[in-house]
Amino acid sequence: MIGREGGRILVTGALGQIGTDLVQSLRDIYGSDMVIASDIREKPNHPCILNGPYINLDVLDKDRIFQIINDQNIKIIYHLAAILSARGEENPELCELINVEGTRNIFDAGREFGLRIFTPSSIAVFGPDTPKKAPQVTPLNPTTKYGMTKVECEILGMMYYQKYGVDIRGIRYPGLISWKSPVSGGTTDYAVDIFHAALSDESKYDCFLNGDTRLPMMYMDDAIRATISLMDAPIDSLSSARCGYNISGLSFTPKELVSEIKKRLPDFVCNYKPDIRQNYADSWPDSIDDQVSRNDWNWQSRFGLETIVDEMISNLK
Ligand code: NAD
Ligand code: SER
Repeated sequence: MIGREGGRILVTGALGQIGTDLVQSLRDIYGSDMVIASDIREKPNHPCILNGPYINLDVLDKDRIFQIINDQNIKIIYHLAAILSARGEENPELCELINVEGTRNIFDAGREFGLRIFTPSSIAVFGPDTPKKAPQVTPLNPTTKYGMTKVECEILGMMYYQKYGVDIRGIRYPGLISWKSPVSGGTTDYAVDIFHAALSDESKYDCFLNGDTRLPMMYMDDAIRATISLMDAPIDSLSSARCGYNISGLSFTPKELVSEIKKRLPDFVCNYKPDIRQNYADSWPDSIDDQVSRNDWNWQSRFGLETIVDEMISNLK
């Protein structure tokens, strides 16, 4: 039995950065058989995914989503399948299709089967007119296609909640830092890639953002705890932020991260070679005001920069 509804959990996009960690945490809590990992990619090879059921699922295939929910007695979906910011700018049509139509399919399933759904939003919903410390409620004028799809999904989620009573919840994740899986396609990826490069024989990294670019970030353990806490929160404690809660972890620049890494790996060298991803980063805020999450479901981050650097280096070694 899972939570209030009974039944099993489905995770879409489970082979990605968040899924690899989230599936393991959910299986630790609810048991391996209760959590079905799924992704468009056919063959998982990560131990966090291989220790329980796996299904090949394209979130654009609505009939198959409905069939799986019915056959597997699914009651909760963590919907992680998406195209991230940098890849989304390379292929905006695909980004719109997967991020919006894929999410609409999951919401329709929620309506049909009475599901509880988690669907992540992002700091990419903010744009250049957002204050440097992003408030929960502020005009959302993103410049990236990815950010636009995230705004669309927040609005769609509220519509399905208000009109059809579907229990949809979401968090505007900051850039996430983790060691269990590689990252690709995002703008905040540098903060993961840099550790792999620092620990390589060359101990050298070409950073695609300039050294002074301050962005909101979070360690994956905090993000997973936030995700599961929000999904466990009583429905009547949630406010109109329910489809896109701001959460804050920490903020740092590449230079500050490099300086912390160099305290542990003194030979590490980082060069700054900004590319197009600098534009996306420049359109996002420096930090996040998460007072509403603190009030509604007692959110509080735990990991600071020094601990994150220690954890990343010791786990990747
Ligand atoms: P990721 O790119 O690592 O993983 C996404 C997964 O989705 C991949 O495994 C991919 O194979 C899968 N996928 C792509 N198209 C699919 C389809 N049609 N059907 C099924 N699966 C498909 O992304 P992530 O970092 O794990 O992000 C998960 C969610 O969290 C996304 O909604 C993302 O926008 C959001 N988010 C992530 C971050 C971050 O820093 N990682 C920050 C903010 C928001
Ligand atoms: N971390 C994500 C990205 O860089 C933001 O959602 O695309």
